[in-house]
Amino acid sequence: MAQEVKKTKKAPTAKAKTAKKESILSEMTITPKKRILVAASECAPFFQTGGLADVIGSLPIALQAQGEYDVRVVCPLYQGMKSELRETLTFVESFNVPLSWRNLYCGIFKTVKDGVVYYFIDNEYYFKRGGFYGYYDDGERFAFFAKAILEMMPHLDFIPDVLHCNDWQTALCPVYLKTNYGARPEFGNIKTVFTIHNIEYQGKYDDSIMEDVFGIDKSYTEMLDYDGCINLMKGAIVTADRVSTVSPTYANEICDRYFAHGLEHIVKENAYKLSGILNGINVVSYNPETDPALFANYSVCAQENKAICKAELQKMLNLPVKNVPMIGLITRLAAHKGIDLIKCVGEEIMQEDLQFVLLGTGEREYEAFFTDLASKYPGKMVAITAFNQDMARKIYSASDLYLMPSKSEPCGLSQMIACRYGSVPIVRETGGLYDSIQPFTEKGGNGYTFARYNAHDMLYVIKMAVNEYKENPEIFKEHRTAAMSSDFSWGRSATTYADLYRSLI
Ligand code: GLC
Repeated sequence: MAQEVKKTKKAPTAKAKTAKKESILSEMTITPKKRILVAASECAPFFQTGGLADVIGSLPIALQAQGEYDVRVVCPLYQGMKSELRETLTFVESFNVPLSWRNLYCGIFKTVKDGVVYYFIDNEYYFKRGGFYGYYDDGERFAFFAKAILEMMPHLDFIPDVLHCNDWQTALCPVYLKTNYGARPEFGNIKTVFTIHNIEYQGKYDDSIMEDVFGIDKSYTEMLDYDGCINLMKGAIVTADRVSTVSPTYANEICDRYFAHGLEHIVKENAYKLSGILNGINVVSYNPETDPALFANYSVCAQENKAICKAELQKMLNLPVKNVPMIGLITRLAAHKGIDLIKCVGEEIMQEDLQFVLLGTGEREYEAFFTDLASKYPGKMVAITAFNQDMARKIYSASDLYLMPSKSEPCGLSQMIACRYGSVPIVRETGGLYDSIQPFTEKGGNGYTFARYNAHDMLYVIKMAVNEYKENPEIFKEHRTAAMSSDFSWGRSATTYADLYRSLI
């Protein structure tokens, strides 16, 4: 047995004792997390009209999970939140918000979901309406929203290090921080990020709105004025500390006239603070292995049940139950989604041995086109002019191919969801479609693509995909497996946002 060596211990001095105590205390002191407030006009699952809500409903969760930041979200309290969500809200407090000569009630409600705190701004006059947007006073409604966000911060004792605003509805936040709130010390350290989800929607108003509604002094007109009117998106691009958009390719595209809807000069002038970060999707919610909306569940390793999803949807939609390729299309029926290409060659697509299912609403002209095509080709074409999450998921799971011929696409989420559900995308190479879908080659790939905005180029690729499905089922299955194996989770992009915030704080 080893002999124990006895050491004579000296009693610690008072100085050493204090030093030790201090070092223990400093180890115990946890540095408070930096605070991020994400502001947007919609957020899934509470309120949703489009992809913006998906992003606001999933990015903050991914960021929070990384542990570096305390991430919270703020959005208006519209009418019509599902009762099971509404029941989770608690009232926090109320105060008044000044908006030019108006003095307006503002209530704050709160809920916590997936580890993230969500605040809802309540003012029934502005937000308790049939829809979210499209009212004569949208400028005033979202000016109120922007001001309420800033006024809320000291009330909640949550002054963020970074205020992350999204699209024109929150564009006035960075503007107010440089104007009306510029001299208030409690707001002095807030940095701002402004994310453009679609540059087409800018929030343009007559000059008279500046003082009478926004309450911003005329001396700041230059900050917001563009091309003869007040342009909120311009104001945010100019005043935000960083500007981002939802894919690297779209970040380049919006420097160009073809994509920028008039704002190319402003974007180019501010290109030094612009970056493009590709969106992800919520891979927990969009998971064919567990999705309760599907007729049967399946996964990349066990794809057999996908055939059940297809057969059941065929029955449900009165389509013949047979093994022909099914093309899915779930979209807002707007011009930039490339619907004109389908209009051009719709008849030719119908000559192929396939089935085509559309789900979407939008411009009357496009709705009428699809409804007519469906009545002319029953048994081949189904047009559901509505929007329904449950049906969308059934279509993603049942279809073999997913068409997305967008003229421009800042990011696009449908192509990612389609991949996950094994509906192989056919996309035009633009914006986020270009960044997320690589054409099949010997080296890999996860979709079919075409470059030019041309109906026959699209038709050629559709025919190629349909042919592959029928003539080379083994290859098609490999392609489907490749699409399903694409990683569209938020991990990497959330890290890039985290880096962006860190560069500011
Ligand atoms: C907008 C864009 C779409 C993007 C979404 C989320 O809806 O049009 O491309 O995916 O925002 O960023």
